[in-house]
Amino acid sequence: MTDNIPVITIDGLASSGKSSVSKLLSKRLKYFVLDSGILYRAIAYIKINEPNSFSSKSLLNEVINNIYLKPSENLDFLVTYKDKDISNNLYEEEIGLAASEISKNEDIRNLLLPIQQGCVSMPGLIANGRDMGTKVFPNAQLKVYFTADIDVRAERRYEQLLKSGSKPSFKNIRKSLVDRDEKDINREISPLKAAKEAVIIDSSKLNIESILDKILELYKISGV
Ligand code: DC
Repeated sequence: MTDNIPVITIDGLASSGKSSVSKLLSKRLKYFVLDSGILYRAIAYIKINEPNSFSSKSLLNEVINNIYLKPSENLDFLVTYKDKDISNNLYEEEIGLAASEISKNEDIRNLLLPIQQGCVSMPGLIANGRDMGTKVFPNAQLKVYFTADIDVRAERRYEQLLKSGSKPSFKNIRKSLVDRDEKDINREISPLKAAKEAVIIDSSKLNIESILDKILELYKISGV
């Protein structure tokens, strides 16, 4: 049934602009937007707070059974764990790095698959992450892959964290992004890579509106 609902996937490097572009695209198309990194971040956050919950496969199952993605009126998804909204606890860079480590785990990736696929609903979904086009939504109507220069990405992340009230260190952020890319690209299961039919966009020198126009143009051509 969901086969007829359009999906656009945006994969790419950490802080390459996937989330910002997805949000704007969602506003234009009125599609839902799934930031799949929040699921891996949620698990990292839970593991830090409840380390014992990860000591066996059945406990891991229980953790993941208690995670829900709740559609919000902004067309994105809030993450709840045991009915508590944890969405605002997930954006520190340490959580991102821990999420990258956790995302190597095949059991976790398999358990998260149906949660992500369950986000497809009318009128459509924009899904961003690392394996949206290669694994989670192989039949997506349009697949895009973002890359950008490391210094541009570190600067963006730095500004984002400053705005959210943190006191980030540029050097640490840059290092964390390099570490994360290395982990995400080289892991065995669902590594970060462009799907073969993905359109590659280098967002280093493009402003967000021109990226948006390019994707909308590609989407129109894709015939949806
Ligand atoms: O997109 P993000 O920075 O919120 O993602 C945090 C980490 O989660 C990322 O470094 C790797 C992992 N991740 C993943 O393995 N697969 C995805 N589809 C999304 C994120």
